[in-house]
Amino acid sequence: MMDHAHGYGLISRLFHWVMALLIVWQATSAILHYLVDDTAITDFFFGYHFSNGVLILILAVLRGVWGLINLSRRPAHDGGLQRLAALGHVAMYALLIAVPVIAIIRAYGSTRDFSALGVQIFSGMDNEIEWMTNLGNQWHGFVGWILFALIAGHIVMAFVHTYAWKQPLIARMTKGDERI
Ligand code: HEM
Repeated sequence: MMDHAHGYGLISRLFHWVMALLIVWQATSAILHYLVDDTAITDFFFGYHFSNGVLILILAVLRGVWGLINLSRRPAHDGGLQRLAALGHVAMYALLIAVPVIAIIRAYGSTRDFSALGVQIFSGMDNEIEWMTNLGNQWHGFVGWILFALIAGHIVMAFVHTYAWKQPLIARMTKGDERI
């Protein structure tokens, strides 16, 4: 269940791979929205963008708490490049929270009702709160793309470590132990 010096326990691994799937969906919906808005396929994927985003936010908070509980048990990140990796992990957590929160603030300040995961979370304002909608319009998409770029870098580095540098880091998150 718990993490240890050579890998991640069941709960951390579940958080990681469930969120990976949700993020693939979120990236697909964002790319389609950017490239081919107003098509049936975009309507399908983007139709879940709000609910999926709220779910990612909830899981990111829970995963962050679980990460803090396990912090002293996790594989060490000492030395230059590993410190940079740890910083990248913290940045991904921060953006997994900031990106949906910015969108929710925009939705709160708008005149439209906001529903996610089948529940109406708040109803539309009579008058738009401009700083809230501006915040979302200016930053949600932009910071979202930065998050996807960080995640792409994270995936590339996991493969470089494992296959080029022969440090089996991927096994820490799949089998749960790099020694297996
Ligand atoms: C981790 C969660 C999320 C990520 C990574 C994400 C990412 C993105 C990205 C990259 C775009 C830009 C697409 C484009 O340029 O066409 C976008 C658009 C959008 N997102 Fe999200 N999103 C997330 C959560 C949410 C949530 C929770 C909401 C609703 C409250 C939301 C509402 C929107 C809307 C309305 C747009 C279209 C307008 C715009 O580009 O800002 N997103 N999202």
